[in-house]
Amino acid sequence: MIKFDFKTYARDFIKTEDFDYLYAKKELYVKKLFNDTMVGWMNPIDPEIVEDIKETAKQIKKNFDCLVVIGIGGSYLGSYAFHNLFKKYFNDKSFEIIYAGTTLSSKYLDELLNYLKNKNFCVNVISKSGTTMETTITYKVIKDLLKRKYTKEEIQQRIIVTTDKEKGALHDEAKEEQYKTFEIPSDIGGRYSFMTPAHLLPLALNYNIDEIVDGYYDGKRLMDIAFEYAVTRRLLFGKRKYIENYCIYEESLQAFTEWLKQLFGETEGKNGVGIYPTSSIHTRDLHSLGQFIQEGNKIIFETFIKIANSDNYIDYKGKDLQEINNIVLDSVARAHYKGGVPCLEIEISELNIENMTALIYFFMLSAAFSGYLFGANPFDQPGVEVYKKEVREALGK
Ligand code: PA5
Repeated sequence: MIKFDFKTYARDFIKTEDFDYLYAKKELYVKKLFNDTMVGWMNPIDPEIVEDIKETAKQIKKNFDCLVVIGIGGSYLGSYAFHNLFKKYFNDKSFEIIYAGTTLSSKYLDELLNYLKNKNFCVNVISKSGTTMETTITYKVIKDLLKRKYTKEEIQQRIIVTTDKEKGALHDEAKEEQYKTFEIPSDIGGRYSFMTPAHLLPLALNYNIDEIVDGYYDGKRLMDIAFEYAVTRRLLFGKRKYIENYCIYEESLQAFTEWLKQLFGETEGKNGVGIYPTSSIHTRDLHSLGQFIQEGNKIIFETFIKIANSDNYIDYKGKDLQEINNIVLDSVARAHYKGGVPCLEIEISELNIENMTALIYFFMLSAAFSGYLFGANPFDQPGVEVYKKEVREALGK
């Protein structure tokens, strides 16, 4: 179960008439969303693709000890965030997945190559465009290692390419080398691609992806509240609240906030407007950033993600620690609100696949609505291309 409260600790910042005026336009924006050409992520995934993913994952688990996922941005964050929600803090026994492709650090890559040298691993390289520099470099370096160890035929068994259906360097290479491929549909952009093989294949190694698929589409029921969240954020922006701080009280949600930052940052940060998304882990960061939020520049509003119940019971003087954690969460929201910081709250009954997949859908809907409310195209990222072009020019093709 998921509960939303965008009013209790934000009430003084949003006038009811302003909210009602904007919220009344809901049907208009819903129609705009359904008519958009980039909303393939709202369509049901083909069951044959899901079966192919499951079978491929089965083969990976049977033949290899580790999967190296090479991708960046929307081509890795979804599965990375999801896996980090559920893997164990200590002594994790899940199938080993290494996420590479997000850094050009030679220290990192060199250490990774050393680690992989004696490992029985395979690779899933993921890039919709097939030209992303970080992915291309990492892929080349890791493929060189494979070439030193294996024959062409053996390498064919060890590389899986997830890319565009028809075009791009990766697409062409996969075709020529006869690698196993999965497609990222052309009507789904990177940060909206959770329900595609880009994320479902890595996830299928450790999770029942049928459950993930069902939970995700169940998020459709949250359309109205997703619009309400978008409207609330837009009105707070109008009150000079330019930064949204996602506050979490469970550290395993940290990567999820990275996913959120990309989703909202790339979706609405255009044309000189948009809300800058950031995050803090509580209670840790209350002892570093808490001072600024309570008494500093009032350009921040916060969205708290609360987990009502936990399977892990720790007794502290007769009280459940999870309950104490949540009492602290509510107290912090109250304190920040009293200090001039609007605080929104999203509460899930527990950290499970059903709640988190529905939340993923909810946030994607909200981000798309937010993009429209800022007058932006929610599904492009022209600003990202600017740095890519600079790099290409600096390095030469
Ligand atoms: O959301 C997006 O579209 C981007 O963040 C991309 O996912 C990111 O730039 C990686 O692109 P590609 O999948 O083409 O390598």
